[in-house]
Amino acid sequence: MIARESVDEVLLRTDIQSLIGGYVTLKRAGNTYKGLCPFHSEKSPSFVVYPADNSFYCFGCGMGGNAITFVRGIEHLDYPDAVEFLAKRAGVTLIRDNNDRYGNYTEKKVDKERFYAMNVEAAKYFHRCLLSDDPKAKAALAYFTETRRLSMATIKHFGLGFAPDSYDAFSKHMRALGFSYEELTDGFLCGRNDAGRYYDAFRNRVMFPIIDVTGRVIAFGGRVMDNETKPKYKNSSDTPIFKKSRNLFALNFARLTCSEQMILCEGYMDVIAMHAAGFTNAVATLGTAITEEQARIMSRYTKKVIISYDADEPGQKAAQRALRMLEEVGLEVSILVIPGAKDPDEYIKTYGKEKFSEVLNGSKDKFDYRVENVLKKYDVAIPRDKIRALDEIENIISDINSAAERSICASVIAKRFEMQQAAIEADVARKRAQNARKGSRAEAENARRIAAGYGDKINPDFARAPSVAKHEEAVLGMMLLHPEHRRRALESGMLTREDFYTEFGRRVFDFLAEDSGVEPDEVFTPEEVGRITKMRIERMELSDNGDEVFDESVAGLKNAVQKQETKQVASGEELTKLIAGLRQKEE
Ligand code: UTP
Ligand code: MN
Repeated sequence: MIARESVDEVLLRTDIQSLIGGYVTLKRAGNTYKGLCPFHSEKSPSFVVYPADNSFYCFGCGMGGNAITFVRGIEHLDYPDAVEFLAKRAGVTLIRDNNDRYGNYTEKKVDKERFYAMNVEAAKYFHRCLLSDDPKAKAALAYFTETRRLSMATIKHFGLGFAPDSYDAFSKHMRALGFSYEELTDGFLCGRNDAGRYYDAFRNRVMFPIIDVTGRVIAFGGRVMDNETKPKYKNSSDTPIFKKSRNLFALNFARLTCSEQMILCEGYMDVIAMHAAGFTNAVATLGTAITEEQARIMSRYTKKVIISYDADEPGQKAAQRALRMLEEVGLEVSILVIPGAKDPDEYIKTYGKEKFSEVLNGSKDKFDYRVENVLKKYDVAIPRDKIRALDEIENIISDINSAAERSICASVIAKRFEMQQAAIEADVARKRAQNARKGSRAEAENARRIAAGYGDKINPDFARAPSVAKHEEAVLGMMLLHPEHRRRALESGMLTREDFYTEFGRRVFDFLAEDSGVEPDEVFTPEEVGRITKMRIERMELSDNGDEVFDESVAGLKNAVQKQETKQVASGEELTKLIAGLRQKEE
């Protein structure tokens, strides 16, 4: 657990306006700042930052919270990693304690910081060795640059390295830096033979550091440089800072470009080849089949996964398994078939990245196919048909997101229809503008529905009893805004969880009643934190939140809940009568 003081210090030292300003262009509006929401697409700004309150809220999509919530959402990190991310940014060293959030002492904690430090030193050492003058190191470098055709930039980008062909050169170096044999073996960097002698875990292998999403080196994979020695790859086992089943290779880079789609590969080398060719949204599992945890992690980062495994039978079988696993967590999934190569790495090397991009997007083929379908319906020798066909094709082009692709398609159609490309492009631009306007109308409609509580995923009970839920939000909002209301309501027993009607309202009340001093982010999803923030901000914008108003709101809530329950009892009685009536008829 991260100690409470550390979390407080991180929040204190983080200026929310400058944090968010790094991602969103903010304009001053009175005491607040406004901008276009980075969590949903919009044309007019409904995203507000409240510097005085250290919070933000989007009136369009309902995301909101503090700096931690923002980082969870924008960087796709979980709570501890988000705090870590902000700590790094603010230069705060986190103190971890052995207490859980209720203050109970948990299992003995190892000092994870030691392991992080050890791994980064190891990575530096391996990288230095790769660039050294030693003949074996030269062979290793040649393996990367010649056999695998990697550029120096790619080697540096991934921090690739070389573990020397020596029994203990690495551990000697690490011991000189102050790491013990025990730490090195616990970190899977050393082994110990039956005679009790320690040896380097990675010897004469090219090294792939595994880096987590906050940029820390957490483990290694090492490959032999021939294709005969077994095992071909040696990977770190689980250590106090590394769980194979929970990490993905290159996710530290991919997370920045994968919000629409992610490519899942089998191996380190496939991922590296893809990134080098510009497909920076590729990741791989770490020498194992994909796990449920990894699938769930991927679903937090992306909407769609393209599985790009080896073309051989085991590869395709594994792809089927991965497909099921990923669909189960709600991802859209497709399997990429790469014609004429054993894996994506080889495909890119043989046919180039443009061809790979075509295979990946199927975009060119898809466009041709859709155009053919349109042309089947019309006889373009007849002017009226030709106009209709053109209109439909322009619709297809206007759906394409890439400007370059739109222009290519427009030029193909211009030739085919014997027209000016510019005329087609002008039509397409007009259609895109129309669609954008429709989109922002749909956006406004959606916001209205959310405000009315329909299709409310966070508080599904809202729509069943909107007036009760609104009372709840008022009471909870005041308790969130003013700790003295919370204290008074709880100490006097004036409110209990039974006074709340929606399940979400009860959970927020429990959280407040527990008063464990933890951040909402530790307990609630970012969307839920957004709703909690909305409750608080709506009260913040009202001038009077005094005792009297609070008491009235509590009374209003109790009244509304009672009415709602009577209504339910009544309809329950009706139902009983109805069922009894039906029974009598049957008899
Ligand atoms: P591959 O054998 O397809 O490796 O195994 P690759 O990445 O394409 O390697 P190259 O191209 O031959 O260098 C796919 C992945 O399975 C794991 C590794 O993570 C590898 O990247 N693996 C493979 C192991 O963990 N151990 C092995 O002995 C072999
Ligand atoms: Mn392979």
